[in-house]
Amino acid sequence: MNNLNTEKIIDKLKNMLKPKRLKHSINVANCAVKLSEIYGCDKDKAYLAGLVHDCAKYFTNDQIEVYVKKYDIELDPMEVDNIALSHSVIGSYVIQDVFNIKDVDIINAVRYHTTGRENMSILEKVILMADMIEEGRDFPGVDYLRELSFGGQLNKALIDSFNNTIKFVIDNDQLIHLRSISARNYLMQENR
Ligand SMILES: [Fe+2]
Ligand SMILES: [Fe+2]
Repeated sequence: MNNLNTEKIIDKLKNMLKPKRLKHSINVANCAVKLSEIYGCDKDKAYLAGLVHDCAKYFTNDQIEVYVKKYDIELDPMEVDNIALSHSVIGSYVIQDVFNIKDVDIINAVRYHTTGRENMSILEKVILMADMIEEGRDFPGVDYLRELSFGGQLNKALIDSFNNTIKFVIDNDQLIHLRSISARNYLMQENR
């Protein structure tokens, strides 16, 4: 793969992320490798995608603006001014620009790690789930999600995790991204 080596990527990430977020990113990378062994996807891609998935998390509005212009990125109305959602889409361009990652699987895994989408690839599923269950995560139900994920039930883990997220969003009176609904419904039909 024609991209920077891991050490150089981590060095660059140190300037982009708070220490806690860098630790989280390394945890996601390691967790994604474990999951990729179970579900049969490329370990190197899983590690790399995990490492860089949150690289745009602390972007300022000006930095976002630069990328939107440079890559002609169309943020949907929910993503505009919402870094919690847009960092994944923006991040999928930043990894090409800053880390020279051109692999489409990795780009999509970063792009959809927050909302998911219909018909996700195994790598997309692995990164989304590793982001939820990496060893630093601590929320009610995380152990059950780990059990499912490491027990060969990745789709069930994803459905449960979407259900949690959607319930949380409703309880907090926030908008639900339509991609998350589509992702959940698709998985439920896939799992029948
Ligand atoms: Fe993220
Ligand atoms: Fe994350």
